[in-house]
Amino acid sequence: MPPRPPSSSSPSRQRSAVALTSSTAWYDTPLYYDMVYADYTAMETRFIEGICRRHAGTGRRPLRVLEPACGSGRLLESLSRRGHHVHGFDLNRHQVAFARDRLRRKGLKGRVWIDSMDRFKLPTERPFDVVHCFVSTFKYLTTGAAAKRAIRLMAAAARPGGLVLIGLHMSDYRDRREGYERWIGRRRGLKVISHTWSYRPDRRTRLEPMKTRMRILRGDQVRVEDTHWNFRTYSPKELKELIAQAPALELVACHDFRYELHSTRRIDNEYGDIILVLRRKQPRP
Ligand SMILES: C[S@@+](CC[C@H](N)C(=O)[O-])C[C@H]1O[C@@H](n2cnc3c(N)ncnc32)[C@H](O)[C@@H]1O
Repeated sequence: MPPRPPSSSSPSRQRSAVALTSSTAWYDTPLYYDMVYADYTAMETRFIEGICRRHAGTGRRPLRVLEPACGSGRLLESLSRRGHHVHGFDLNRHQVAFARDRLRRKGLKGRVWIDSMDRFKLPTERPFDVVHCFVSTFKYLTTGAAAKRAIRLMAAAARPGGLVLIGLHMSDYRDRREGYERWIGRRRGLKVISHTWSYRPDRRTRLEPMKTRMRILRGDQVRVEDTHWNFRTYSPKELKELIAQAPALELVACHDFRYELHSTRRIDNEYGDIILVLRRKQPRP
């Protein structure tokens, strides 16, 4: 169990608070998740299009896109709106229902199903121009065996010359400080404040305890939901070892969570956020 986080500031008025603790609450409420991450969607969408033009030779044609662990479907929607052909799956049935419904309500096409990152089966034989998995989602695979299966499945889903994009936060085992991030989302009278803490990564178990506390405010009411989980850790060296587990892929570039095409970085001891741009190798003639 991670240490207790610092207490959050008291609300200005008396509110009725309900504290719920569960390992799944964070994703069982797709709307709240969606609100908190909404600000990133346009940037990520432009990044996917730009990186495919640069490294997969796709020009401006519609992309075939696969998103393992697609969550609420925010990227499925934004890419589908721009004419791309989107497929996505998630382990959480609430997220899948939410993602399907948002595409249907907006008259957008896309296939969404329940599946897991390390065992997924595709409903199509046609390979993808790009397979993407951002915001540390790959770290939900907490064993080496699961991570290896997942990266190999993602590689197999891409066409030769197509891309696999993995964005995650690297761990520094020497750093004993807690990590903390705060996000706020607002939509139609609802405000969601998400506080996320990451605790000391363990080099031996390769686990990093995480906690999210969501404060959901509507009018005078506040609801508090806590979620605890573990992420698998990746130091720069361990990230290189992960890439080596998928010999069908080659690393062509690295970026960070600013999603800027002009700024690249390396897998080095700067830790922090990284986006791996991996390309499926062409078969030898
Ligand atoms: C941080 S969200 C990312 C969602 C989406 N990719 C996005 O960028 O908005 C993580 C998602 O991973 C899903 N997830 C966690 N472990 C999974 C697994 N093993 N297979 C499939 N989905 C998983 C969760 O249900 C959740 O929807």
